[in-house]
Amino acid sequence: MPLQSGLVNNIESLVNVSNLDKAHKIKMKNIVILVSGSGTNLQRIIDTIESGEIQNAKVSLVVADRECFGLERAKNHNIENVLIPRGKNFSSELSKIIPENTDLIVLAGFLSILKPEFCENWGGKIINIHPALLPKFGGKGMWGHHVHHAVIEAKEKESGATVHFVTPGIDEGEAILQKSFEVTENDTPETVAEKVHIIEYEIFPIAINKVLNNVVI
Ligand code: GRF
Repeated sequence: MPLQSGLVNNIESLVNVSNLDKAHKIKMKNIVILVSGSGTNLQRIIDTIESGEIQNAKVSLVVADRECFGLERAKNHNIENVLIPRGKNFSSELSKIIPENTDLIVLAGFLSILKPEFCENWGGKIINIHPALLPKFGGKGMWGHHVHHAVIEAKEKESGATVHFVTPGIDEGEAILQKSFEVTENDTPETVAEKVHIIEYEIFPIAINKVLNNVVI
């Protein structure tokens, strides 16, 4: 039937069947991101997924533990988003809504402490970014500006950022990636915070790729 075979040839020339087949075989990884603040790291993750720097992944859900601009960023990108008020029920409420097919949970400027059972259930699949060179300046109360003040107070010669696995012990999980910068005499907690953010935007997408592709030692 000349007409039909002509049609098939045309379709094949429009659609590269073997590429489509390959695309179907690559599993998209689902990332859930937890935020409490302005969400510039969330934005960086969204942008680097769009640019292909983070490969074969999508942000399937953003969860905030308070009203924050991070939620607006999710809405702006049509990403499903939920607010679970912080408090003792946060982890159990989160467990109820987190999709089963989640490959990675990313804490991107997230201030609540997750319950040990939650951390254990999702062991190896939760990571956090911390604004210092862990194990220095980590643990309870060491977040945001508290960290940068402590770094200046201690007259540190360097600081940095660390991406690490989340375990029941606060900031105690194994480091995935860490990068430092010089702290000078002119630095203030504010300038340290700016330098930390630059480092974070650099290492976070690399660390996420590593974990999604199981290349963490
Ligand atoms: C980051 O510095 C992160 O390390 C810390 O909180 C900050 C969040 O910044 N945990 P943003 O909300 O991503 O802008």
